[in-house]
Amino acid sequence: MKKVITYGTYDLLHYGHINLLRRAKALGDYLIVALSTDEFNWNEKGKKCYFTYEQRKQLLEAIRYVDLVIPETCWEQKARDVDEYKVDTFVIGDDWEGKFDFLKQQCEVVYLSRTPEISSTQIKKDLGK
Ligand code: CTP
Repeated sequence: MKKVITYGTYDLLHYGHINLLRRAKALGDYLIVALSTDEFNWNEKGKKCYFTYEQRKQLLEAIRYVDLVIPETCWEQKARDVDEYKVDTFVIGDDWEGKFDFLKQQCEVVYLSRTPEISSTQIKKDLGK
């Protein structure tokens, strides 16, 4: 079984997220989403989420492409996760192009093109949040 892992915040779930998850799952048989916790978002990414970790997790778990959701609590956990979950492919949007090439020592690394013109930040802006 080919295992794929991806990381992200997934606040205000939108079609750009779904496009990413669908293509990520198509790279293998089992998709793990490491979902940024509220603390990690705030302390490390400077992001204040609209939905809590538990709410974002519940939404992701309802998506047919997602098999498992685990917490992302620090930048350094990726190599450990790839090892622990016996991951074959690490995948993420190309806004992170090149940033995780160090994982190529352990698994395949794929950057997928982002869906244009949509982001959680943009939605918040448009709604004046
Ligand atoms: N993503 C994508 N296309 C978009 C938006 C996001 O492919 N239009 C991908 C990202 O590249 C990432 C995953 O979805 O692999 C989760 O991204 P996240 O940062 O949570 O979503 P954004 O909408 O970009 O959120 P923000 O504006 O807070 O950065």
